Amino acid sequence: INKIAVLTSGGDSPGMNAAIRAVVRNAAYSGLKCDGIYRGFQGLIENEFIELGARDVKNTINRGGTFLKSARSKDFMTKEGRQKAYKNLKSRNIDALVVIGGDGTFTGASIFSKEYDMPIIGIPGTIDNDINGTDYTIGYDTALNTVVEAIDKIRDTASSHDRLFLVEVMGRDAGDIALNSGIGAGAEEILIPEENLGIDRLIESLDKSRKTGKTSSIVVVSEGDQIGKNIAEVAESIESSLLGYEVKVTVLGHIQRGGSPSCFDRVLASRLGVGAVDALMEGKSNIMVGIEHKKIVYVPFETAINIKKILDTDLLRVADIVST
Ligand code: F6P
Repeated sequence: INKIAVLTSGGDSPGMNAAIRAVVRNAAYSGLKCDGIYRGFQGLIENEFIELGARDVKNTINRGGTFLKSARSKDFMTKEGRQKAYKNLKSRNIDALVVIGGDGTFTGASIFSKEYDMPIIGIPGTIDNDINGTDYTIGYDTALNTVVEAIDKIRDTASSHDRLFLVEVMGRDAGDIALNSGIGAGAEEILIPEENLGIDRLIESLDKSRKTGKTSSIVVVSEGDQIGKNIAEVAESIESSLLGYEVKVTVLGHIQRGGSPSCFDRVLASRLGVGAVDALMEGKSNIMVGIEHKKIVYVPFETAINIKKILDTDLLRVADIVST
């Protein structure tokens, strides 16, 4: 191969820039040309390319978001869209593609790679940490730190006013952010999509901790949890059952996706970016580059997308014990 292209797609995450930088720099190091594609698969269809050399990615390692911008492309889900995408890649003599994103991105990449002769390597970039075959995804560590910092602040005011706070965190179908930030921020209860605690048990447990002397509480609620249709309903149920306990709701939202990446995410992104180009140079294709037990691994897209990542049940036990 002589020329590669790189794009970011789906929800952005802190450290995506560091990953682009590593791809561009390993391409330069390995004697390959490299293009960046704006706005993910949508920009690929709409022919939005930019040449990227080693110096074009200076001052990006510390920046949140993605300077190549991101999108969730509906057009790439159509045969016509993917045909245009392939034509655009060929007209710029691009031999291989690196895509940085989550499961939606890898699903698109996997379909494309079956239809066209275009080697693709995926780099897991999402705050959700919900990709099978890698211990960590880029942006997850930074998001965790953002959440913990926010909950620390909520704890101050919760404790001053003897209130119970429900804090909603992101993670569409995965409880990783909730579980780990909940332990890190000292939450009383953690509600995650993988486990349905049930509203009665939640109320019972909060009542018990009030009776053992807790005057304020923090409950971390994953956005995908199944206990109630929405967090306001959960708050109402608690307030009407635990009389005299004032319940407040804070939805952290997209603040979790921004900010300068942590050192962990910068190093992870650099390793995965370098690993992606190494993989292409070795003739690999249609795989994700991940990290397991501190080592770079290559995982077929199917394994990354179709198998649900197993939640660490030991963490559930730890969460239970330390909130006693
Ligand atoms: O997948 C990343 C994520 O941040 C999820 O945690 C969240 O549910 C979703 O993206 C939000 O997407 P959008 O930015 O399109 O609202």
